[in-house]
Amino acid sequence: MTVDRAAPQLPAPLGLLAELTHRCPLGCPYCSNPLALDAPKDELDTQTWARVFREAASLGVLQVHLSGGEPASRRDLPEIAKSASEAGLYTNLITSGIGLTDKTLDALASGGLDHVQVSIQDSEPSSADTIAGYDGAFARKHALAGQVVAHGIPLTVNIVVHRRNIERIDDMVAMALAMKAARVEIAHVQYYGWALKNRAALMPTPEQAMHAVSVVEALRKQHHGKIVIDSALPDYYARYPKPCMGGWGRRSLNVTPSGKVLPCHAAEVIPGLEFWNVREHSLADIWRLSPAFNAFRGTDWMAEPCRSCPKQREDFGGCRCQAFLLTGDAHATDPVCHLSPLHDDVARIAKVHDEKFEYRRYQRESVTAS
Ligand code: SF4
Ligand code: FES
Repeated sequence: MTVDRAAPQLPAPLGLLAELTHRCPLGCPYCSNPLALDAPKDELDTQTWARVFREAASLGVLQVHLSGGEPASRRDLPEIAKSASEAGLYTNLITSGIGLTDKTLDALASGGLDHVQVSIQDSEPSSADTIAGYDGAFARKHALAGQVVAHGIPLTVNIVVHRRNIERIDDMVAMALAMKAARVEIAHVQYYGWALKNRAALMPTPEQAMHAVSVVEALRKQHHGKIVIDSALPDYYARYPKPCMGGWGRRSLNVTPSGKVLPCHAAEVIPGLEFWNVREHSLADIWRLSPAFNAFRGTDWMAEPCRSCPKQREDFGGCRCQAFLLTGDAHATDPVCHLSPLHDDVARIAKVHDEKFEYRRYQRESVTAS
């Protein structure tokens, strides 16, 4: 396809999220993957990923996050990771730990893998396994952490906080440090994909959310420099929205298992966006010229109150996907912002609670549990 080469100059993206597969042995109800998961038969092959990484490095990308689903569901994971290293990218593997054998970790380490991130679901084994929808997940994650550290690969433990575990944040941090994590990330669930479907079962109460703020602040002081906290408050209880992705089409790209390139992991929820595929376009052309990347760049697309707000270049009007999911209009101010005329709706939604999880699965296998 012919493209307009006269498009304006753009800053280079810094990061690329490579969703190698949507296959995953776990069923976490807080997963932000889309409900319509890509089928294994549609996944990009090893060589195409290697080309994507070379193109990413040429474009200025510095680091690649190898994610999924569970990346270890791909037998060619070591080759894929090695090709990213050979392209000159800092390579971070985001894994559940399930299915990642010591032999694979050996191959990854000798291929130059730079970093591993593993998420934990809870500090209580039975609760952790229930949240993951997988018996034995808790034990396996501990074993994996030990293997990663033994290989000399820096480890980050990611703690995803929600109503079922929010009262054990301090225990989870202690557990992560005992696993010899060099870094601990605490993040509240973001409500996209499967997490949105499970919002009523995951949303903390206002009391829990407020208590968590003080716990997190104390932990931050106690473990200064070791703990990174994405946000002390869940989105829906905040006064201002997050600067999602550091601004649309400003810093990063997301490649799906089947090769579509998205400005963020949830962008497919916005109707009418046209996503280009790495099978048909170079990453450089996609970054500069694809309609989806240009849809919300800059500030021209903004409506009031963002249009005349002094914070518009700090938070970029919040999250486009969340704005669409909560208002039906992707151009609207993210209603998490207290200046949005629809902000009260967010507080109403946050009060809706139930206990049922719908576990992440390829849709025909969807299961529930309380
Ligand atoms: Fe951000 Fe828009 Fe709210 Fe201003 S009005 S703080 S730009 S979301
Ligand atoms: Fe898409 Fe925030 S997740 S812009």
